[in-house]
Amino acid sequence: MKILLLGSGGREHALAWKIAQSSKVEKLFIAPGNAGTSNAGENVPTLKADDFAGIADFVVAQGVDMVVVGPEDPLVKGIYDYFLENDAVKHVPVIGPSKAGAVLEGSKDFAKAFMMRHNIPTAAYATFDGTQVEEGCKFLETLQAPYVLKADGLCAGKGVLIVPTLEQAKQELRDMLGGMFGNASSRVVIEEFLSGIECSVFVLSDGKNYKILPEAKDYKRIGEGDTGLNTGGMGSVSPVPFATKEWMQTVDEQIIRPTVEGLAAEGIVYKGFIFFGLINCDGQPKVIEYNCRMGDPETESVMLRIKSDLVDLFEGVAAGDLDKRTLEFDERAAVCVMCVSGGYPQDYQKGFEITGAEIEGSVVFHAGTALKDGKLITAGGRVIAVSSYGKDKAEALAKSMKGAEQIAFEGKYFRRDIGQDL
Ligand code: AMP
Ligand code: GLY
Repeated sequence: MKILLLGSGGREHALAWKIAQSSKVEKLFIAPGNAGTSNAGENVPTLKADDFAGIADFVVAQGVDMVVVGPEDPLVKGIYDYFLENDAVKHVPVIGPSKAGAVLEGSKDFAKAFMMRHNIPTAAYATFDGTQVEEGCKFLETLQAPYVLKADGLCAGKGVLIVPTLEQAKQELRDMLGGMFGNASSRVVIEEFLSGIECSVFVLSDGKNYKILPEAKDYKRIGEGDTGLNTGGMGSVSPVPFATKEWMQTVDEQIIRPTVEGLAAEGIVYKGFIFFGLINCDGQPKVIEYNCRMGDPETESVMLRIKSDLVDLFEGVAAGDLDKRTLEFDERAAVCVMCVSGGYPQDYQKGFEITGAEIEGSVVFHAGTALKDGKLITAGGRVIAVSSYGKDKAEALAKSMKGAEQIAFEGKYFRRDIGQDL
């Protein structure tokens, strides 16, 4: 079959790497892709992931049999529904939720209300709009520091503020409702602060049946020891030691099953990945957030740990018979270390030549790279990731660090402590 994968980051390179291993795949296109994805299939650099009409034309012209969506944006904008409503492409399955399902990520207020309706453990909260600044301030007074404020809508990962004092929290609330994140913060969710270690759990669902993929932990801060500014992700590790069989069973019973059943009961079509951002509060898993796609950079370690054919699982999603498909895990550990541009996540330069990016014994996933005059160059803040297997996390980390050292470009930086806190 022919598959079109949408997106251009490290997550998409990891998905492309895994999809390309399937014997069912005759041709893989990645739109727009990056320099790395062109090793797994054919890039379509002119096709943007939110150009639905262009994507549909391409699907018809090339005889594409399945579309797999990497990032949230096209899902939140309704690519699933667009395909279903267009006669020329409605027979082509889109792996990803409907627009109504993607609201789990697209609106934090919707996600919180959904969790309340289905008794899914999460932080206490309330939502306020621009007419309710005073009520919002009163609600903040009932909470303990630190204060968690979240823009309701999509903000490219920047819409969550964690603020140490009540005065600052009130000011941030006013600023957010006043348009700090544009329309995305026209409503603000204020939440009880939860403390614990985070864990990302991924599920593939056909709307009724589901498979739980290997869990992972990502590292968001730029500095070692989880210090400094937030980034798009500096590395990831799978498995996560505290995600024991018992803990995952609790996650399944209290969180995953009620989510999948809740979506179905509300008539929301969801055939794709569900990303549960969890926090372990004294052994009790609680949901921090939902995403309607895989995580980045978690995918860069999770894909290594899936032994089964991912395309077979996607076919199960499309056909609604995921219960008849098998998902086997690789028992080894996987660790991903991300090399970033000097200065990132603040100002940084692009266009530096990258050398040493072929690493024996590891898998290299490109995030922000491009080809220029036959040379590989940096094209983003997060540039290139090294993922490795190990008999344990320490061995996998050592291999990925060795690879990250070998890759060379001006200003390169990476964290050496991925997974060390677990
Ligand atoms: P984002 O991925 O941008 O939504 O980042 C939100 C991050 O803020 C999460 O990964 C958590 O680290 C943190 N966070 C969000 N909600 C809470 C909460 N209720 N309590 C503690 N930390 C939170
Ligand atoms: N790694 C977190 C995310 O993909 O949102």
